[in-house]
Parts: sequence; structure tokens; C-alpha cells
Amino acid sequence: MSAGLTGIPGFERVSKIPLYVPGKPIQEVQRELGLTRIIKLASNENPWGPTEAVKARVAAVVAGTEFESLNLYPVSDGFYLRKRIAERKGVALDRVVLGNGSTELLEMVAKAAFLDGGSAVIPKHSFAMYGIATQTAGGRVIESRATATDLDVDDLLRSVAPDTRLVYLAHPNNPTGIRVEASALAHLVRHLREDIVLVVDQAYAEYEEPGEYADAADYLDERPNLLVLHTFSKIHALAALRMGYGLGSTELLSLLERVRSPFNTNLLAQAAAEVAVQDLAFEAFCRQRNAEARAAFHLEATRHRCQLTGNSGNFVLMETVYPAADLFKALLQRGVIVRPMHGYGLPNHIRVTFGKPEEMLAFWSAIGPLLDCGC
Ligand SMILES: Cc1ncc(COP(=O)(O)O)c(C=O)c1O
Repeated sequence: MSAGLTGIPGFERVSKIPLYVPGKPIQEVQRELGLTRIIKLASNENPWGPTEAVKARVAAVVAGTEFESLNLYPVSDGFYLRKRIAERKGVALDRVVLGNGSTELLEMVAKAAFLDGGSAVIPKHSFAMYGIATQTAGGRVIESRATATDLDVDDLLRSVAPDTRLVYLAHPNNPTGIRVEASALAHLVRHLREDIVLVVDQAYAEYEEPGEYADAADYLDERPNLLVLHTFSKIHALAALRMGYGLGSTELLSLLERVRSPFNTNLLAQAAAEVAVQDLAFEAFCRQRNAEARAAFHLEATRHRCQLTGNSGNFVLMETVYPAADLFKALLQRGVIVRPMHGYGLPNHIRVTFGKPEEMLAFWSAIGPLLDCGC
């Protein structure tokens, strides 16, 4: 950093914060490698949507009405979408907050919690944005024990320090694809110090069979310091529009409201999500396709003697004998984008999103010959 910039103490600290590395966009690979057929299985997007009903709603908004038009600011707090979410989730309207993607909600809660410093406990191998949101808000990261196959809730509780303000838990976790069992979740909710906000990120919850999943929202009445996050980027297939929501107590959300930027979610995203959140049939369809893709993937991985981790989410973590970065590059040359996981402390793992059957075929055609030399 140049002398002028280092003169600002905050900048010096910001320069040490890890950069978030997103999945490589198709356009970038096209530009760099000149390939014509590229498939992206790198960012846990949903290949099955959005639905025609969602697209029709977006088109109608673009066409414009007296109340909805691209030249007007959107409803700042997304009242109509919050109402739909509240109905779907069976909570009061003032217990729903919207974010520009759930990532913005991670940032909002960190901004509020670390105004006077403090620490966050984050399990190892968690979504990178927990650490980044903590540090950019001035907080300190404490990493608790977790492995590719185990989320250690006891260690999460043990790792809490006197200055801890937030604990993050992804349930199911990205990138390991594991969720916590109902008893472990109850234990965490009930034993975590009351003055710590527990953030349970349920970005992939809708891929779980409803009867088999322990929903942290069940504890909203019991624990005021609980924020449960969901996103429209995964099963709702609206990643490009950026929309996420949080459920929490009215007290907690009234604090988040103070750090929320006005008009943080846009008109098209609000309108699309209003339609998407009501479409339970589409969710069930995607859940089924995802389960089929997982079963097929396991069969193929067994043939290639590859180690897989996790049974949750719309992705799988795959360990090979090759360094993740090398395998990532080799696959890129063959027009397949996956996510190398060395940045998550998993040097030989790649994360693969479940695409459509034809995309998975292309994936195995690309990776099969590479694996058969040694995996
Ligand atoms: C666990 C988890 N939380 C949050 C997000 C971010 O979602 P959004 O697109 O809503 O910002 C992701 C995205 O991959 C994720 O894996």
C-alpha cells in the first residue's frame, strides 16, 4: 500500500482482511479461454429456475405501473415481500428484515454488534463472509473446531470469549454440506450466553426434507438474540437479483433497522421474491431434482473411488488426491467451473454444485479421465 494510504489506520487493517473469492463467472472463462461451451457448477445456484411466473412478474414490473416503475424508489423496507414471508413463516411482519442477499444481513448484524469492538465465534470451514463481515465491522474472529464431517457445537460454546458478541452457524454448512442435529441445535440455542447474538444461516434449508430438518426459527420466541437467515439465491433461483431475509425478535430487528441502508433491496428483486416465496410446488420439484442429482453423483463418485462429504445443500464436497487449485484449472480448460476449496482449509477438495443431468454428464466426462489417473 502507498504511504498515503497506510497513513489511514483503518486502511491498514482493511488491507489485512481476506478477499472474498467468488465462483468464476462463465463470461470470464469465455473471455480468458475462448471456449464456447462452459458449465458453471461453482456457486450453488439453482439450474431449474426461475419459474415462468417469476419472470412474468419481473417483466410486468419493468413495463411499469402507477406504483411500480424503474424511475421510482422501491418500498424501502420491502413491506409487501416481508408480508408474504411473514405469512409463509407464520411470524409477525415486524420479525422479518430484508437484505441485498443474505450477505448484506450478515454485514448488518456485524455492523451493529461490533460498533464497540468484540469478537465472533465462527466454526472452521464456514462460509467466508462470516469472517469478512466480522472484520470489516471491526470485530475479531475466533475460530472454533470443525472438520469436513463434523460441526462441533460443544467447541463453539467453549470458544466464546468475554467480549464475544456474535456466533455464526451455517445449518446446513457451506462448503461441507453438513447440518446440525436437532439436539445439538437446541443445546446451542439454550446454552449460548444470552448477550450473544446467534446467527443461524439457513441458506440451504429448503433443500432439506421439511419433516427431517431442525429449523432454528422454532426458537425465535425462546431466544431474543437469535437471527435466522434465508436467501432467495439458492432454491428460489434468484441469485442475480440479490435478496435475502432474516427472522428475529422485534427488538433485534429494530436495531438492524438502524444500520440498514435505505432502499437496500431493489424493486425487481422484491417483486420476483414475492412470487417465488409462495411457490411451494417449485421448491418441492427442485428438492426432488437435487436428491436425484446427489444420488447419481454418489454412484459415479464410487466408480471413481472418490471421497464425498455432506448430505445437505445443493452441492457436494469432493476430495481427490490432487491439489484443488490444479484440478480446478484442469477442469476450467475443459469448460467446467467448480470451486476449489483450498482457501477454506481443504487443500484437496473441490465443491461441485448439482446442475441439470446433462451438466453433470459433462462434469464427469471432464473429470473422469483426470481422476482415473490416480483418485
Ligand atoms: C451459507 C451461505 N450463506 C449465505 C450465502 C449468500 O447468499 P446470498 O446470495 O443471499 O448473499 C451463501 C452463498 O453461497 C451461502 O453459501
